[in-house]
Amino acid sequence: MKLIFERSIEGFTNDCLPALDVPQALPNPSFRRSSELALPEVPECEIDRHYSELERAAHGVNNGFYPLGSCTMKYNPKINEEMAGLRGFTDIHPLQPLSTVEGALELLCGLEKQLCEISGMDAISLQPSAGAHGEFAGVLIIKAYHASRGDAKRTKIIVPDSAHGTNPASAAMNGFSVVSIPSRDGCVDVEALAKAAGDDTAGLMLTNPNTLGLFDPNILRITEIIHNAGGLCYYDGANMNALMGVARPGDMGFDVIHLNLHKTFSTPHGGGGPGGGAVGVKAFLSEFLPRPIVRDNTLAGAESSIGKVRSFYGNFLVCVRAYCYILSLGGEGIKEAAQTAVLNANYLMRKMPAELLPYAGTCMHEFVLSLKSLKKETGVSALDVAKALIDTGMHPPTMYFPLIVEEALMFEPTETEMKETLDNAAEAFRRLIKRSYDEPASMHDTPRTTPIGRPDETSAARNPIIKA
Ligand SMILES: Cc1ncc(COP(=O)(O)O)c(C=O)c1O
Repeated sequence: MKLIFERSIEGFTNDCLPALDVPQALPNPSFRRSSELALPEVPECEIDRHYSELERAAHGVNNGFYPLGSCTMKYNPKINEEMAGLRGFTDIHPLQPLSTVEGALELLCGLEKQLCEISGMDAISLQPSAGAHGEFAGVLIIKAYHASRGDAKRTKIIVPDSAHGTNPASAAMNGFSVVSIPSRDGCVDVEALAKAAGDDTAGLMLTNPNTLGLFDPNILRITEIIHNAGGLCYYDGANMNALMGVARPGDMGFDVIHLNLHKTFSTPHGGGGPGGGAVGVKAFLSEFLPRPIVRDNTLAGAESSIGKVRSFYGNFLVCVRAYCYILSLGGEGIKEAAQTAVLNANYLMRKMPAELLPYAGTCMHEFVLSLKSLKKETGVSALDVAKALIDTGMHPPTMYFPLIVEEALMFEPTETEMKETLDNAAEAFRRLIKRSYDEPASMHDTPRTTPIGRPDETSAARNPIIKA
């Protein structure tokens, strides 16, 4: 496919501006460009075709099944986009007088209340822009809490080996050393945790259900161990899709949490767009929340706050979508969405070849397969199978994550997919496993239906060429 610059026809112009009928006012010469602006010169109809072609070349939730585990590319109701597009929301500025944006402030307060109710926390700040950013703010709160008590010996954060990489990174960025503890049957090894916890423990960071899609049956014991050691418990809420309306981290013993508004509450995840990593705390930590907080249509924040973690109040339109999502589904709808996400994941998991399942039992909203034996027997890797799935019209699942599962593929079907879609996906997957045994060589150069087959992913990530 050609770049828009390659479609350019020199001298072609679409502009039809009227002739200037006022004196020309040019900016100061120091602000003027010295050469012509290099813009493509393309007829309007070709521009339209170019962008439509680009859109067709990308696979999104609107094109087909997108079971990208841990990233939750779920279908989001269009009503939320419509609300976020209302001019009363898009045309305001955070520096406007507060008296002119009371509706927006009320929305932020309302969302905070709803998220507190869903998570079981007492106070929430909507400021962080992403999950990792929420983690960073949350760990900063843990640090501020220990510092406020003069407890300087707590220098370690415990993180299970199944954790998302952002967890240890957030702890390390806050100056803590990270203690990794092993998993047993995919969940926290409680004995190892008890050994690791001590009076140097600042806290534990845990995702529940974890990155294997498993709900930790020892969760109350786990938070108790940390509290008995004097540490705080941090909940990575990136997987709240499985629990919302059903169970609450606040009731499991967690003190600080973040929620990924862009995974669970209706903003599309990925692609570098705006996100929301709301950070929530129990009452005894509310004084440390990022400032400012909206209270009774004014801006507040305690002296002991960790301060601002970004400008203003967070990504406001992400908050609008989340609020609309919660209000339009209601308490029962939120719960049903979580339950259906779990049901769909279990249904799909049971349709997959049982020998590829590394953990027995039920999963939550996502599950992991291990293609270790397939690779050993045929040379076909998880990457090969993921790439071949593209040719079947679906987006590949997450690959090689979590790190503790060899040749991992992680599927998250989400709550909006029909049984027929799940049946087709399972069948397509099984056909590829059979093909891997019958004609393994044919699996190494997939996909064949896309403009690009196998880019050099390291160079593409390290040295992206994103303009002509
Ligand atoms: C378990 C878990 N924790 C944290 C994050 C980080 O969230 P973000 O990508 O918004 O920074 C993710 C991302 O998907 C995740 O899956």
